[in-house]
Amino acid sequence: FPNRALDGIKLRITAGPTREAIDPVRYISNHSSGKMGFALAAAAADAGAQVTLISGPVNLATPERVSRIDVSSAQDMYDASLADLQDCDIFIACAAVADYRPSEAVTQKIKKSADTLTLTLVRNPDIVSSVANSPQRPFTVGFAAETQDVLHYARDKLQRKKLDMIIANDVANTDIGFNSDDNRVVALWNGGEHAFDTMSKAQLSRRLIALIAEHFRTERD
Ligand code: C5P
Repeated sequence: FPNRALDGIKLRITAGPTREAIDPVRYISNHSSGKMGFALAAAAADAGAQVTLISGPVNLATPERVSRIDVSSAQDMYDASLADLQDCDIFIACAAVADYRPSEAVTQKIKKSADTLTLTLVRNPDIVSSVANSPQRPFTVGFAAETQDVLHYARDKLQRKKLDMIIANDVANTDIGFNSDDNRVVALWNGGEHAFDTMSKAQLSRRLIALIAEHFRTERD
């Protein structure tokens, strides 16, 4: 592992789930633990990067030498991610962003009266795609959690979202991925890919950060 491969590099990572308010006491969310994003933040800081971790609500301690911005909704995460992008060299989108939010978050608690209740949902902005299509455009890395045709869908996402790299994992396998301490992924970029063995998220993060650092340098030099 090339030591200090990211010395002085400004790196931003999104992690965890988002919460989309239905009313003041209820929300829509998902089971993302944030472990992968936090492990990546720790590995990037170890490699010398100045890391900003933009995190949804999770139960994890902030890694050493990482500055953390806590957010709740996808819109909050979007705002924090897109702010001052000229101060960001590498952006890694690890968060499980809610694809939809209630069209209106009502200000009073919804009372139970009718037998049925219909929620109308609207699409959230795609954060990583907005970063990759911004004029400042940092080196941009996304994740693709898939349950079938993993590599096919990941490569499609790489092109569609205009990413520099995408990290694909098969979430149909419950031993790895969501909430697990281990993960098995394939990294894909334009013209190549690398399949990693199953390993701890900490170990995998060090390998991924090394790979990202290598591609970042090649692209920049
Ligand atoms: O399209 P899909 O949600 O599968 O793409 C996953 C990738 O896109 C992840 O890197 C995730 O963090 C990012 N994403 C995002 N904003 C969204 C949805 C996904 O940044 N609204």
